[in-house]
Amino acid sequence: MPCPALPDGFDATDPDLLQSRIPHPEFAELRQTVPVWWCPQPRGITGFDDEGYWAVTRHADVKYVSTHPELFSSHTNTAVIRFNEHINRDQIDAQKLIMLNMDPPEHTRVRQIVQRGFTPRAVRSLTDALRVRARAIADEAGQSLSADGSFDFVTRVAVELPLQAIAELIGVPQEDRARIFDWSNKMIAYDDPEYAITEEVGAEAAMELIGYAMNMAADRKQCPAKDIVSQLVAAEDEGNLSTDEFGFFVLLLAVAGNETTRNAISHGMHAFLTHPEQWELYKRERPSTAAEEIVRWATPVTAFQRTATQDTEIGGVPVKAGDRVGLFYSSANNDTEVFDRPEQFDITRDPNPHLGFGGGGPHFCLGKSLAIQEIDLIFNALADALPDLRLADDPRRLRAAWLNGIKELQVTAR
Ligand code: HEM
Repeated sequence: MPCPALPDGFDATDPDLLQSRIPHPEFAELRQTVPVWWCPQPRGITGFDDEGYWAVTRHADVKYVSTHPELFSSHTNTAVIRFNEHINRDQIDAQKLIMLNMDPPEHTRVRQIVQRGFTPRAVRSLTDALRVRARAIADEAGQSLSADGSFDFVTRVAVELPLQAIAELIGVPQEDRARIFDWSNKMIAYDDPEYAITEEVGAEAAMELIGYAMNMAADRKQCPAKDIVSQLVAAEDEGNLSTDEFGFFVLLLAVAGNETTRNAISHGMHAFLTHPEQWELYKRERPSTAAEEIVRWATPVTAFQRTATQDTEIGGVPVKAGDRVGLFYSSANNDTEVFDRPEQFDITRDPNPHLGFGGGGPHFCLGKSLAIQEIDLIFNALADALPDLRLADDPRRLRAAWLNGIKELQVTAR
């Protein structure tokens, strides 16, 4: 059914939409009038770019689709990593080795294994190391502030901690971290016309990262240590990961855990600086609810997709087998059926059942606790070390179909 209030040719994945802050008024209109809407002419730069798709905009419907993998498959393409044409080492199908693109029972097997690396205990064991890193990042940013008067928050602050967290988690030695960071950044930037990094360079970086991780796995298989890699790869015949699977898992971590958290941190800072009363409140009380509100507000992953496995329905709307379905987390996170005054940035919001980490199904974000911990640690460090930050300029936003990103955020203390 067409939506009369939408502009002609509207596409919910249009990168121009993300040049302004969510919530977008078009989604409020869709939730009200056509909550499951067929977009016939997508223009988004990744994922949804050739055929039409269903835009699912209500909180309840996004949860429904996410929690019914038997009706809505992740297999075809979740719109995240499309390196297949370039990563074709030994005819390996890269799409199939990435758990985000798997369906049960294969997904269940891999998820059960890798979950061991993300238990509350495993995440807590990183806290002290990450707290020290967060404080060092904030202190170094403070020094550049004294020298230059302003700095780019994204490159000075938001980039570092997510990469350190992944490196810490899988035990990458200090001397190798610069290389890992370089590969990760190249992989992420290939989609962005502003960087002179081609898809081939991005894919090459991905291959190098996978190769590095596979070597790590092979080493630990031979000489097991008391670390997470050893736990994940030891004794394949007892149901652990193969070296290939481990390589692609690290690739997924570098993509899924990196830019997402970086953008949450950048958006969080921007939200604090444009809502000074919330920054004052944060500095005074450090509410533990703040990180979840930052993720709701930012919704760094604005949409993922599924493919219908059979003729079915979403919210009473008939959907055909093979149809593509976009889950618009950015819309769900502003649904007034669930959130009281969603347009307000409120760091004490509780409960906060946002879908920033997914709609609760089998693919629900594996790194949620780690991400929340990182956000908590960095803002605590910033509130201590740089309490008087001010916005020096409007943010420069990433041009992307499903990532709500900030590329540059100039801040000052004057
Ligand atoms: C999956 C968001 C941080 C690892 C996902 C999904 C979303 C998401 C929306 C898909 C959920 C679904 O399809 O139902 C985010 C956001 C983050 C974040 C907004 C930061 C604020 C992280 C971190 C890591 C991570 C720090 C790990 C280091 C993963 C993995 C998956 C995933 C491995 C795939 C899980 C699966 O397929 O079973 N994330 N994520 N994420 N995330 Fe995150």
